[in-house]
Amino acid sequence: MHKSVLLEECIENLNLKENSIIVDCTLGYAGHSSEILKRIKKGFLFAFDQDLDAINYSENKLNKIGNNFCVIKSNFDNIKNELNSRNIFKVNGILYDLGVSSPQLDNDERGFSFHKDARLDMRMDKTKTLDAYYVVNNYSYEDLVNILYKYGEEKYSHSIAKGIIKNRPITTTLELSEIVKMSVPEKYRRETHPARRTFQAIRIEVNNELDAFEKSLKSALELIDVGGRICVITFHSLEDKICKDIFKSVSSIDDTVKKLPVIPNEYLPKFKILKTIEPKKEEVNENNRARSAKLRIIERIG
Ligand SMILES: C[S@@+](CC[C@H](N)C(=O)[O-])C[C@H]1O[C@@H](n2cnc3c(N)ncnc32)[C@H](O)[C@@H]1O
Repeated sequence: MHKSVLLEECIENLNLKENSIIVDCTLGYAGHSSEILKRIKKGFLFAFDQDLDAINYSENKLNKIGNNFCVIKSNFDNIKNELNSRNIFKVNGILYDLGVSSPQLDNDERGFSFHKDARLDMRMDKTKTLDAYYVVNNYSYEDLVNILYKYGEEKYSHSIAKGIIKNRPITTTLELSEIVKMSVPEKYRRETHPARRTFQAIRIEVNNELDAFEKSLKSALELIDVGGRICVITFHSLEDKICKDIFKSVSSIDDTVKKLPVIPNEYLPKFKILKTIEPKKEEVNENNRARSAKLRIIERIG
């Protein structure tokens, strides 16, 4: 089952009030959403996920807590349209707990894991057509190198791409994992699982994860009301950098006006970065998924 990461820290920092309107962009197995719903008895929770398995499970779970919620089956990059179409233009808190859930990783059929044999899939939204099988078997050498380098920060992107092309067709996760292993130097095989970066890269490509997150986070900044907070849990440096850069740009004063003796109101930042929290040792010991997590929090101040 899925163990929510940085749960207490998120709940504390979302600054929930009884009548808060909160958006959980990554419902998953409703670990965070359940705790939110318990605390906003007179408020409302909107929860997004693109995975029907997660939604079916979580709707049931949330129904046992209250009925002041709405689950939206959509990519969170549609957050603005989806909320506006429900006459919601401002909210008090927004949460992202990025990436995949443990049940997605553990379910043999989903093809996310290099430990479990499955057809190459990796789609969070099973209604989409692009899957890992297509990427692995149809992308050009240049495109594969690019993806592995950009989304996996993989230093052996060239040799892995060559290995993939030479061994096509590749049908399963374990076949791919073995091909990656044979394409990298022996020393690298001992450092960490050699296929970890390749699987991360293909998953990001299949689900267009980074573009979706960037688009959604920019919309979230428009939707959050004064005093409201956005909490983002990231699991790798690529998504963390997007979050860090966007938070920095909206919370700092433009260089061109910095030197003015009095800074006009319209140039004052509308956001304040509150803090970045990493999981405690005990949490990492209990939940390996937490080892690379970072929670960034920003508040709208104007
Ligand atoms: C790490 S899990 C969230 C776990 C949840 N916070 C909990 O405590 O149970 C991430 C979830 O977000 C969903 N997800 C990831 N990217 C998404 C996107 N762009 N749009 C909608 N849902 C997304 C995944 O399908 C997955 O169910």
